[in-house]
Amino acid sequence: MGETILSVKGIAKRFGHIQALRDATLEVARGSITALVGDNGSGKSTLIQILSGNLLPDRGEIQVGEACCHGLTIRRAMALGIRTVYQDLALDDCKTSVENIFLGSELTRGPFLDRRAMAREARRLLEEIHVEIPDLTEPVGRLSGGQRQGLAIARALRRPGELLLLDEPTAAMGIQESHSTLRLLAGLRDRGMTLLIISHNLHQVFALADYIYVLRAGRVLTGTATGDTTVDALQEQILRREREEDRL
Ligand SMILES: Nc1ncnc2c1ncn2[C@@H]1O[C@H](COP(=O)(O)OP(=O)(O)OP(=O)(O)O)[C@@H](O)[C@H]1O
Ligand SMILES: [Mg+2]
Repeated sequence: MGETILSVKGIAKRFGHIQALRDATLEVARGSITALVGDNGSGKSTLIQILSGNLLPDRGEIQVGEACCHGLTIRRAMALGIRTVYQDLALDDCKTSVENIFLGSELTRGPFLDRRAMAREARRLLEEIHVEIPDLTEPVGRLSGGQRQGLAIARALRRPGELLLLDEPTAAMGIQESHSTLRLLAGLRDRGMTLLIISHNLHQVFALADYIYVLRAGRVLTGTATGDTTVDALQEQILRREREEDRL
């Protein structure tokens, strides 16, 4: 594994009587795609919320580059170069692509919105990551799943960052759209970005990721280089662990 950009140690998070995370421990190598796979409710999104500064952990440590901390605020995560695409994408369906990219951080010229500059910058951002949205002035509610994901990624990258967190980037997408999103993510890695991707889909992460971690019931069980394992081996491992845990 190359130089570590993100290291998460012993993260725990409880919501009332639900222990969402018990011991999340993993490392992400700079310039890699690292996948975190696990079943529904295993704590994947909770970890993303913690790494993006939306939630504070009860326990544990996060190290980003040289900076080490117990928890992050959204502002601190941004300053450390962490960008996030959430599971629900958080797009406003009634607004246009340009408006969504600049939601909450609109460009202005004097007292007015600088619509021309925003449209120019939106086009540049989308072109850079090869996302095709022919009409940037139509409401994003009409876009395809792949276009919506691309738009959410463009928004996340509006301010340059090194580490992109993506929660289920191909959920609810057809085969074609999944493929174009996976290509887009591989392209980001080729440009030197580091990606941490959350997914249910073992076959997709096998096609894409350099390292894969398994999260079960709030605990990271195993981390392995993709080349050192197979989909079947990993699935079997998850099942074996399940049975072991059931006996506890
Ligand atoms: N804000 C919250 N309040 C209460 N419980 C929560 C909250 N967020 C998550 N949980 C619970 O914590 C557990 C982990 O949830 P989380 O959303 O992290 O799982 P996940 O692995 O992302 O699942 P999925 O694959 O369905 O997206 C679940 O039992 C969930 O119900
Ligand atoms: Mg989730």
